[in-house]
Amino acid sequence: MKVINKKRLFSAKSMPTILLFFLLVRSAAGGPPPGAKRGRWQTLLNNTGVVAMHTALTHRNTVMIFDQTRAGRSGYPLRRSHYDGSRCVPSSWNPSVDSSCWAHSVEYDIEGNTIRALNLETDTWCSSGTFLSNGTLLQTGGHGHGYRRIRYFDPCTDHRCDWRSPEALLLADNRWYASNQILPEKDRVIIVGGRRVFTYEFLPKLLSSSSSSRERSFYLSLLRQTNNRKEEGNNLYPFLHLSSDGNLFIFANRDSILLDYWRNKVVKTFPRMPGGGSRNYPSSGSSVLIPLDHTDGFQKVEVMVCGGATTGAYTAAKRKTYLKGLSSCGRIVITEQKPRWEMEEMPGPRLLHDILILPTGNILIINGATHGCAGWNNAANPSLEPYLYKPNKSLGRRFSVLKSTKVARLYHSSAILLPDGRVLVAGSNPHARYTFKDVKFPTELRLQAFIPYYMDQYFDGRRPNNLSIHYSNGGYGARYREEFTIKFRLDLQREPDKDSIKFSAYSPPFTTHGVSMNQRMLRLKCKSIVREDGGWMRAVVEAPPSPNVAPSGYYLLTVINGGIPSIAQWVRFMQEN
Ligand SMILES: *[C@@H]1O[C@H](CO)[C@@H](O)[C@H](O)[C@H]1NC(C)=O
Ligand SMILES: *[C@@H]1O[C@H](CO)[C@@H](O)[C@H](O)[C@H]1NC(C)=O
Ligand SMILES: *[C@@H]1O[C@H](CO)[C@@H](O)[C@H](O)[C@H]1NC(C)=O
Ligand SMILES: *[C@@H]1O[C@H](CO)[C@@H](O)[C@H](O)[C@H]1NC(C)=O
Repeated sequence: MKVINKKRLFSAKSMPTILLFFLLVRSAAGGPPPGAKRGRWQTLLNNTGVVAMHTALTHRNTVMIFDQTRAGRSGYPLRRSHYDGSRCVPSSWNPSVDSSCWAHSVEYDIEGNTIRALNLETDTWCSSGTFLSNGTLLQTGGHGHGYRRIRYFDPCTDHRCDWRSPEALLLADNRWYASNQILPEKDRVIIVGGRRVFTYEFLPKLLSSSSSSRERSFYLSLLRQTNNRKEEGNNLYPFLHLSSDGNLFIFANRDSILLDYWRNKVVKTFPRMPGGGSRNYPSSGSSVLIPLDHTDGFQKVEVMVCGGATTGAYTAAKRKTYLKGLSSCGRIVITEQKPRWEMEEMPGPRLLHDILILPTGNILIINGATHGCAGWNNAANPSLEPYLYKPNKSLGRRFSVLKSTKVARLYHSSAILLPDGRVLVAGSNPHARYTFKDVKFPTELRLQAFIPYYMDQYFDGRRPNNLSIHYSNGGYGARYREEFTIKFRLDLQREPDKDSIKFSAYSPPFTTHGVSMNQRMLRLKCKSIVREDGGWMRAVVEAPPSPNVAPSGYYLLTVINGGIPSIAQWVRFMQEN
């Protein structure tokens, strides 16, 4: 561009020539195609068979997708007749019968872009889940005969694994619209709330001496106090985030606390979140933990809550009036002495959306609607444009609007991050059954990927690749604070710059109803990085300091060079044993 003199550059007549020149220069330099910054969309499958009410990425690089057995006929027929010989009737709505005729759970294989049906026997409608430290998915609750059920899925590579649900083991209370969080103590999970259930409980169960072997749940007054009965709760699917002091942050409706769950003691009560309305189901805003960073020893813990519905949205939606959602987000540093909400505005109102942390550490807000609330046919005006949020920019400069999709993703849709950096988007069904005709928002079975800008091939030269992880003990994982080695390729002409190459570990969430349970990202400490022959690099990275910061389990490890992430590899953090 320097060769063009300024006079010509600004003369209107020569604009087309200059534009052409500009485009040529860009393409000759292999610049990103126009609009690349806003990302793009890809359709992966036209029929997943099953609505993605719940979605989770396994460490075998498959994705669990399931809805509710109550929905009856899905898009994936399993057989023509029941085990007793009677024919499968599409119009019948008997959940105990229907689960044998149509699939309500599938496993998506990312590499093969294929699905396989799984067998769900009890109803998982509006349930919750968590990955255990060995990568097994623990799935809890649901509706009807699934209220108190516990299910396991051990991800496999031979495509033979399926759900198992021990009949002898039940939850203490009904868990319909509850949230889960894995705790620092090895493989203990807390399950909080549910419809008209103001308690929490643990799995594996606590066998307290005072109550002999009674299966216990613990009363939590926050859940009763924040419950808005006329509006179907507005505090369901509470937002849970594990703080790095080991206590649990719980947000319901507009209020939040820090709970010492062992002593059932509220250790901190946060100020009410400004902005009016409500943030939890059926108002259905969403929340995220801002990436934790090694530079402060992972001690600063900050939560962001975005969107939701305005007061009265649920009763209005029942009258077919769809009130405008909330456009405000609030951030609060929960580890501060006197925490307070810092408020800001999204580019538009939003609810029923997902919030995901991208490998870059930036945050993606995707799916949802601008008006109404959650529940059957309760929302209008799909939000087709994802928002990108850069937590490190100054206030007012953090949001940008990304490439829009043509597919409405309303109630019962979900999104998760894939190891290669794409975002898988699926589901949407504002109807109790699979409904494809004569409705404004039909049941959506198309599977899409949103492909963020950093995946553009223009950035391939800057992208670290061929990652492999080597544990110092030769074992299966890194113990807390233990160093491990990451080998990767990166074409650098100079010595690596420790400030521009970063390492992150991401705990893949269990996502449903806009709540990404157990999602967290850590910026890890790099102890050394050296350039070796043939473009190979070798970095020594330190595992997180404790299970409070990163509960044991599988994480996605990404190397980021100048903002461009590699494909992630699974890393395992584990306790001494
Ligand atoms: C989905 O269907 C459309 C329209 O029939 C077709 O053009 C497209 O190729 C299909 N996509 C996939 C991934 O099967
Ligand atoms: C993982 O741990 C859970 C809970 O202890 C157990 O039920 C499951 O069988 C384990 N999975 C594998 C693959 O070992
Ligand atoms: C944001 O800034 C903090 C403090 O400067 C830094 O530690 C962190 O890595 C940054 N995060 C991102 C996503 O760039
Ligand atoms: C690096 O990975 C690419 C694919 O991402 C593969 O084609 C190539 O063979 C790998 N190179 C080495 C040296 O492993």
